[in-house]
Amino acid sequence: MTRAYPYPAEVAPAMSLWADFQGNAHGRLIHKWKHYFPAYERHFAPFVGRSATIVEIGIGEGGSLQMWKRFFGPHAQIVGIDIAPRCKAFEEDQIAVRIGSQDDPGFLESVIAEFGPPDIVIDDGSHIMQHVTASFAVLYKRLSKNGVYLVEDLHTAYRPEYGGALHGADSFIESAKALIDELNADFTGDELPPTEFTRTTHSICFYSSVVAFERGTYTKKFAPQIGRTVAVVDESYPPGARSDEREGNDLRLEVVTRREEVASLQAELGREREGLQHALGAVAEAEAERQRLNTAIREASEAAAQSREIIERLRNEVADNSRSREALAATLSTLRSDFEAAVQCSAAIQLQSEATQLQSEATRRQVAELQTRFAANQTVLNAIVQSKSWQFTKPLRLAGNRVRSLLTAFRQQRLAARNGMPGSHRWTPTSNGAISSGSDSPHQKRDAPRVH
Ligand SMILES: C[S@@+](CC[C@H](N)C(=O)[O-])C[C@H]1O[C@@H](n2cnc3c(N)ncnc32)[C@H](O)[C@@H]1O
Repeated sequence: MTRAYPYPAEVAPAMSLWADFQGNAHGRLIHKWKHYFPAYERHFAPFVGRSATIVEIGIGEGGSLQMWKRFFGPHAQIVGIDIAPRCKAFEEDQIAVRIGSQDDPGFLESVIAEFGPPDIVIDDGSHIMQHVTASFAVLYKRLSKNGVYLVEDLHTAYRPEYGGALHGADSFIESAKALIDELNADFTGDELPPTEFTRTTHSICFYSSVVAFERGTYTKKFAPQIGRTVAVVDESYPPGARSDEREGNDLRLEVVTRREEVASLQAELGREREGLQHALGAVAEAEAERQRLNTAIREASEAAAQSREIIERLRNEVADNSRSREALAATLSTLRSDFEAAVQCSAAIQLQSEATQLQSEATRRQVAELQTRFAANQTVLNAIVQSKSWQFTKPLRLAGNRVRSLLTAFRQQRLAARNGMPGSHRWTPTSNGAISSGSDSPHQKRDAPRVH
């Protein structure tokens, strides 16, 4: 029968993965080696029809995500991880895609935080050894209790371009080989201490290009012998075996069983002691964390109180500032008025100073003129004084009066000039020899006094 693809996983008939793969001619591209399919079926079958979470690293064209959806059934959540953003387009019902690199622990943790512990991880990503190892380190311990971790395409572990090499230090095949010893750590005496991997791993299966790890926890590990023996003890079988490993009669069976039980209980006791120590360490850490948090809370509330004070102070300062702003505006306005008045005043002073300068120049000229006249009169007076004739006595007296008047007028003029008195006065001798003051006039006489 020919099937039309894609068809909803809910209605897909139960069929082998291999058959599904072969029928995908019209579906999205799936890229798998054919000899992987029996291994898939073997390790994944217990999760079919369950509400399992399947994480596949490396999406490619999205075909394998749809194949897992069909295979695991309607309750499965398929999560694809890829570094290429284009893969986001392959999301659909039951299929989520998260974009990130498989060697980024933070990214992988975020996927776990979102979807919970995976039941199956299939690593079909970059196949670079360092990436494969990084993903395994984060995700294996995050698997559900009976989860399966399957790494495929491990032929790359022998190829240098993927960081691989036969017996190479970075080869994941080499790491997986070492994990065989860790799986059996319980039996190495104290040479290899048992780890979480020892306690939570049931099997490591090596296939061509594939390694599959099955998780699981253990009840007490011991090896009871059950059933009756039919022969006497054969000390030689199996060759080299301890006596408690050989077959024997009922009595020896009991002894051997008890000894096994004691050893197993001791081992379990050791593990429990280790667990207890871990728990005590965790309690101490939790207590330290609690104290640290208390300190942080105390500091935060002190900081909050300080912040409240600062806010209050700032609020007051804002109020003060607005009052200061108003006062400043008033002062500024007064200053502006004062400035304008000063500008006007300065202009007036300038004008006054120019006027004063003009006045003082005029006064200087007048003084010079008066000095000239005074000198002329002095000459006349000298002539009179040197005359012995009576008829000269009158002009002499007159001249004396005029000179006195002239001197008085000159002193007044000089005083006025010193005090910067406004207005220009010219002192002029009158025709009768007296001095008169007034402004220049074309009718005024300016000649030297005549002698009678
Ligand atoms: C071989 S394809 C996957 C094929 C697909 N699983 C299938 O079966 O059809 C490999 C994918 O790994 C992706 N890849 C490469 N480097 C990666 C990395 N560092 N982290 C996550 N995915 C990566 C590639 O983008 C590519 O889509």
